[in-house]
Amino acid sequence: MGIETVGIVGTGQMGLGIAQLLAQQGIRTVAIKMTGGDVSGKYATVDKSLQKLVDREKLTAEQKEHILEALTITTDLHELRDCDLVIESIVEEMDRKQQLFHELEQITSETCLLASNTSTLGITELASAVQHRERLVGLHFFNPATVMKLVEIIPTLHTPNDTVERLHKWVEAIGKTPVVVKDETGFIVNRLLTPYMVDAIRAYERGLADAAAIDTAMKLGCNHPMGPLELADYIGLDIVYHMATNLYETFKEPRLAPPPLLRTLVIAEQLGRKSGLGFYDYSTRPATPRKL
Ligand SMILES: NC(=O)c1ccc[n+]([C@@H]2O[C@H](COP(=O)([O-])OP(=O)(O)OC[C@H]3O[C@@H](n4cnc5c(N)ncnc54)[C@H](O)[C@@H]3O)[C@@H](O)[C@H]2O)c1
Repeated sequence: MGIETVGIVGTGQMGLGIAQLLAQQGIRTVAIKMTGGDVSGKYATVDKSLQKLVDREKLTAEQKEHILEALTITTDLHELRDCDLVIESIVEEMDRKQQLFHELEQITSETCLLASNTSTLGITELASAVQHRERLVGLHFFNPATVMKLVEIIPTLHTPNDTVERLHKWVEAIGKTPVVVKDETGFIVNRLLTPYMVDAIRAYERGLADAAAIDTAMKLGCNHPMGPLELADYIGLDIVYHMATNLYETFKEPRLAPPPLLRTLVIAEQLGRKSGLGFYDYSTRPATPRKL
C-alpha cells in the first residue's frame, strides 16, 4: 500500500522542514500547528524558503506553486484522518508525545502508520501509549530536513518486518538514505554526537577557550562544517539538554550528564538560534560569540 498522504504534527524547525521536504516530493502533506492561532506565518516561512530556491533557479515559480498546493497547514488534528503516515515532531517530552499518539490513534485509520521524529526518547515507551503498538516506529530526520540526507528508521519489538521494508523504500523514494537502528537512547547519530557537544560545553565552561576558538578548532582541525557550540545553538539548546538528560538517565555515565551552563541557558530560554541567543548572539551578522 502506498504512502500518499502524510501528516506532520508540530510546525517547529523540524516539523515544518519535514512538511516542506514532503511537499517538494509531490506528497500531499498536512502539517498541524499545535499551539493554535494563525497559520499564515508558517506558510510564509515555507514560501520564503521556496522563494530562495526560485531565486537560485533551483525551482521554477510554477513548481513553487505546486509545492504550496500540496501543503496544508492547520491547527485541527482531525485533518489527519485520511493520512497513510503521521510523523510527530513536537516538543521532546515523553508525556506530551504519548498523549498525542493516544489522540492520533483515535483520529487516524488502523492502517495509518504513526512515527516519531524524537531525537532520543524510546520508541517502545512511546508505543506503550497506543493500543496497536505495531503501528508506531521512529523516523528520525536531521536538521535542516530539506537538506540532510539521513533518516534513521527505528523499529521496536512490535514492528512487523514488512513495515520496516515499506518505510525503507519510502525513505529512499523521498530522496533520503535510511539506516535501520535498534530502539536504544540516541539511536546512532545522537548517541555519538551528544557526548561530543556536551564535552565541548564542559570545556567552554572550564575556560579552555572562548566559543569562537572551540568552534574554529573543530572546523579547521577536523574539517567539520560547524563547530560543536554553533551546532548546539543550531539544533536548539533545549533539544541538546533533553538529549543529554535522556542519555545520562539511560547509561548513567557522568560524562553524558548535561553541564550546569546548558541547564542555565535552557531555564533562561536562551535556546540558540531559534531564540536569538545561545553560545552566540544572533542579533548581529555574523553572530557574536558570547562570554558566559
Ligand atoms: N532540532 C533538531 O536538530 C532536531 C533534529 C531531529 C529531531 N528533532 C526532534 O524533533 C522534535 C521537534 O524539535 P524542533 O527542533 O522542531 O523543536 P521546536 O522547538 O522548533 O518545535 C517544537 C514544536 O512543538 C510544539 N510544542 C511546544 N509545546 C508543545 C506542547 N506542550 N504540546 C504540543 N506541541 C508543543 C511547538 O509549537 C513547535 O511546533 C523533537 O522531538 C526533537 O527532539 C530535532
